Amino acid sequence: MRVLVVGGGAREHALAWKLSRSPRLERLWCAPGNAGTAALATNLEIAPTDLEGLYRFAKRERIDLTVVGPEAPLVAGIVDRFEQGGLSIVGPTRRAARLEGSKAYAKELMRKHTIPTADARIFRRESDLRRYLEVAELPFVIKADGLAAGKGVYVCHTPQDAEHALEQLYVRRRHGRAADTVLVEEWLDGEEISVHALTDGETIVVLEDARDYKRLLDGDRGPNTGGMGAVSPSARLDGGRLAQIEEQILVPIVHALKREGAPYRGVLYAGLMWTPSGPKVLEWNVRFGDPEAQVLLPRLEGDLLEVFAALAHRRLSEASVRWDARPAVGVVLASVGYPDNPVTGVPIRGVAEAEALAGVCVFHGGTARARDGALVTAGGRVLTVTALGETREAARARAYDAARRIHFEGMRFRTDIAADGGGLNAPVGRGTTRRA
Ligand code: AMP
Ligand code: GLY
Repeated sequence: MRVLVVGGGAREHALAWKLSRSPRLERLWCAPGNAGTAALATNLEIAPTDLEGLYRFAKRERIDLTVVGPEAPLVAGIVDRFEQGGLSIVGPTRRAARLEGSKAYAKELMRKHTIPTADARIFRRESDLRRYLEVAELPFVIKADGLAAGKGVYVCHTPQDAEHALEQLYVRRRHGRAADTVLVEEWLDGEEISVHALTDGETIVVLEDARDYKRLLDGDRGPNTGGMGAVSPSARLDGGRLAQIEEQILVPIVHALKREGAPYRGVLYAGLMWTPSGPKVLEWNVRFGDPEAQVLLPRLEGDLLEVFAALAHRRLSEASVRWDARPAVGVVLASVGYPDNPVTGVPIRGVAEAEALAGVCVFHGGTARARDGALVTAGGRVLTVTALGETREAARARAYDAARRIHFEGMRFRTDIAADGGGLNAPVGRGTTRRA
């Protein structure tokens, strides 16, 4: 098969890496890819949001299957465009992708179909929101409705926090039109859990679980980022909790979207809080998490291309999803200045030495080749170093051993990824398939 991966981060490198191991792969392209995908695929200078450019390329090259990494092209309607033109693609349509593209839409949908989620009020006028905040009880969470690259969420514990959020939303207009509508959500206390699933609208395959570490600094301090590391399994989820999430959240949302005339196909990622009254949805993503994909995909056994092809052709029930029982730990190596103003163009050394370790994968995010061919940084999250190990501790030690073989000026990483061993311990070893 001739396959196109859309996106250029470490998540897409991990997807390309896993797809490249399929015996059914004939040729692979990445748009735009990075220096890591260039070793496995042909990189294309087409932006992930250039839907017409991607479509024309896929048509001309007779691409059999397109896999979309990031949310922006999905929310913009890449799946509709490709399917209208008779091309196979993995992902939700524009209407279904509103689950991530509009938090207000997702909230209203969950409310209508009684899917447990944090209570929220939705505001379309700044004056109404300000009036409400004067009387609202802290803590609460203010969220921009639209896509905000993971930066549109303000957890407010003090009046100053709320003031700061309002300043970002309405004075600095940091999120632009994504903040035309704003939600104020009840603050939920509990344990954060996330679940990835694949669905073709009929069958749901729940994947092994993973958690990311969103804060920049050790000890969950510093600003929120896209994710500074991840571990799979998370040690927070057991079979009982998982069954409850499937029953109360995953199956109902797939049904709800179908009933709304927006059947969902693709990767579905639920961000949840486990509260005293059970799981509640905080957010939906319509794609793999980054860096969650970098710890999930190395644990996936078998043929990802076959699984994706089955999904795109609505035959997911026939696909087999199996897992390596070994835990995986992924550490993100970031540029100085990330997340606000990462310094780029800096030479990177030691990747080959890190990759030489058994059980280690180095996934490129923001990397590029300089004119002289040298590997240089080209973004905030530069590399994800993932290691498998017999135990979580062994995987963690190996990931850090590998990370420490890599050097670039200003390199930053958290030293406590997967150090919190606690929580539930039973490995859940899944790939469970059920009818939606
Ligand atoms: P999100 O982008 O919606 O996942 O939000 C980013 C982070 O904000 C989450 O990972 C949570 O840690 C936190 N958060 C979001 N919504 C809530 C909520 N209703 N209650 C408590 N924390 C929240
Ligand atoms: N790591 C969280 C996300 O990709 O949304």
